[in-house]
Amino acid sequence: MKKQIGMRRGLTHYGDEGFALYLRKAFIKAMGYSDDALSRPVIGIANTFSEYNACHANAPKIVEAVKRGVMLAGGLPMEFPTISLHESFSFPTSMYLRNLMSMDTEEMMRALPMDACVLIGGCDKTVPAQLMAAASADIPAIQVATGPMLSGTHGEERVGACTDCRRFWGSYRAGDIDADEINRVEGRLVPTAGTCGVMGTASTMALMTEAMGMMLPGGATIPTVHADRLRHGEAAGARAMKMAEEGLCPSKILTPESFANGLRMLLAIGGSTNGVVHLAAIAGRLGIELDMEAFDRMGEETPVLVDLKPTGQFYMDDLHRAGGTAAILRELKPLLHLDCMTITGRTLGEEIEAMPPGHTQNIVRPLSDPIHKGGGIAFLKGNLAGDGAIIKQSACSGDLLTHEGRAVVFDSLEDLAERIDAPDLDVSKDDVLILRNAGPKGAPGMPEAGYIPIPKKLAAQGVKDMVRISDCRMSGTAFGTIVLHATPEAAVGGPLAFVETGDTVRLDVPKRLLEFDVTDEELERRRAAWSAPATTHAERGYAKLYMDQVTQADEGADFAFLAKRPYTAKTP
Ligand code: FES
Repeated sequence: MKKQIGMRRGLTHYGDEGFALYLRKAFIKAMGYSDDALSRPVIGIANTFSEYNACHANAPKIVEAVKRGVMLAGGLPMEFPTISLHESFSFPTSMYLRNLMSMDTEEMMRALPMDACVLIGGCDKTVPAQLMAAASADIPAIQVATGPMLSGTHGEERVGACTDCRRFWGSYRAGDIDADEINRVEGRLVPTAGTCGVMGTASTMALMTEAMGMMLPGGATIPTVHADRLRHGEAAGARAMKMAEEGLCPSKILTPESFANGLRMLLAIGGSTNGVVHLAAIAGRLGIELDMEAFDRMGEETPVLVDLKPTGQFYMDDLHRAGGTAAILRELKPLLHLDCMTITGRTLGEEIEAMPPGHTQNIVRPLSDPIHKGGGIAFLKGNLAGDGAIIKQSACSGDLLTHEGRAVVFDSLEDLAERIDAPDLDVSKDDVLILRNAGPKGAPGMPEAGYIPIPKKLAAQGVKDMVRISDCRMSGTAFGTIVLHATPEAAVGGPLAFVETGDTVRLDVPKRLLEFDVTDEELERRRAAWSAPATTHAERGYAKLYMDQVTQADEGADFAFLAKRPYTAKTP
């Protein structure tokens, strides 16, 4: 059967294809399109502009640039809206809604006639949602990032969201700055539109996407306000036209090896721990399992090369000036699978060869002289980690990497909020703070609450870091000795459910160990007395779908019915 293109694709079912096309064209002609325009290949453009989303404020201009690229290449661009998620405007959490956005995007990619799709995303959950959708819909697709914000200043200091947001808030809580100053800071932290200007989740996902071959070279770091951001959009539109012709689908690009390249990038940039969960979800859509043990081994041989906040000192606009992704990939080359196909139609190795030459800079270090010698993110096992938990070593205090302390347990986010600053909280700096029932189902939505605040009375004494453990996530812009994603989560009976205040907890990152002292009999007694929290029950709507279907962090917290199972491959 002849392959249908453009407006002839995916005709609405009326039982008469000629009628369906005639009716479709009758309606679309009301928008002024000519027969010539309607005979061209169609490139869909997912527009995630929303007045609630400053990270996507530039999306309309990028859409315009992508359209220009499509039209210059002889195609018809068709913009369509999808859900847009911003971190601070997503109740209860953006993670709770990521799968909904991925379903919306996937189904629109299937339902609307398009020969290829350009996905415009940026804020933390939007790029993962779009890549999950692209992997499942499997039509030619290009990811375009909205791009990072520029850094700004507060007094003499450079600032940018959101590591500095947390740092100033910590100073305010400790009484080091007053209400007037925190008010002034609030007006300085986000000086332009665009995604967070540090190595948070948005930057991490953009760089990983480029390393995995789903974005045109150079696209991860161009600031949102630069003219190059629009030229990049135009190029993406033109390239989408070619991809439509070539039938270059995500399943040809997103292979176990390309996910391994994404993981290498994650480690080398000291990226957000959220990158692991999102990659597990995207790979899971293709039946590919993230091998966490292999990832841990990869961590030992992949140094952190990029000196960006939260673990380093610089901002995304500095990384862009330093050469952006090209500067990182050139250094990482010996560790990458170079024969992976990319959306350009060339391999990653060919793209690295074609990248512009580097110049002297101090943001991306050579492989021989890294910021940290390997071990960005470690995978922990032990009776408190269950199927695994992760810790971002490069963000830890060195003296806490091996630590034994008394557990101080908080049962929920509400319990944490109520008691953490109580003057009579029984806590000392050597204790281990534990937050449970904050995972995918427990919270719900696996919030970024793993950065448990230092209790006010300890913060006032100058305590800056403590060992903290939870089944939730942490913002990529945060730092500290923080164990995350304990799986399975407490709300489904994972090990965190059975630790009690006063138990001895042991963290040994060099040995990859997370455990607590409890006898088998005592553990059995606690298990028998346990019941799931009421928050894991929902009666209707999306909440019910979420509770019935959400998987654990090791499967990317995707919905079970959206993932491809059983796994047919593993990352190397
Ligand atoms: Fe959107 Fe940080 S809030 S990227």
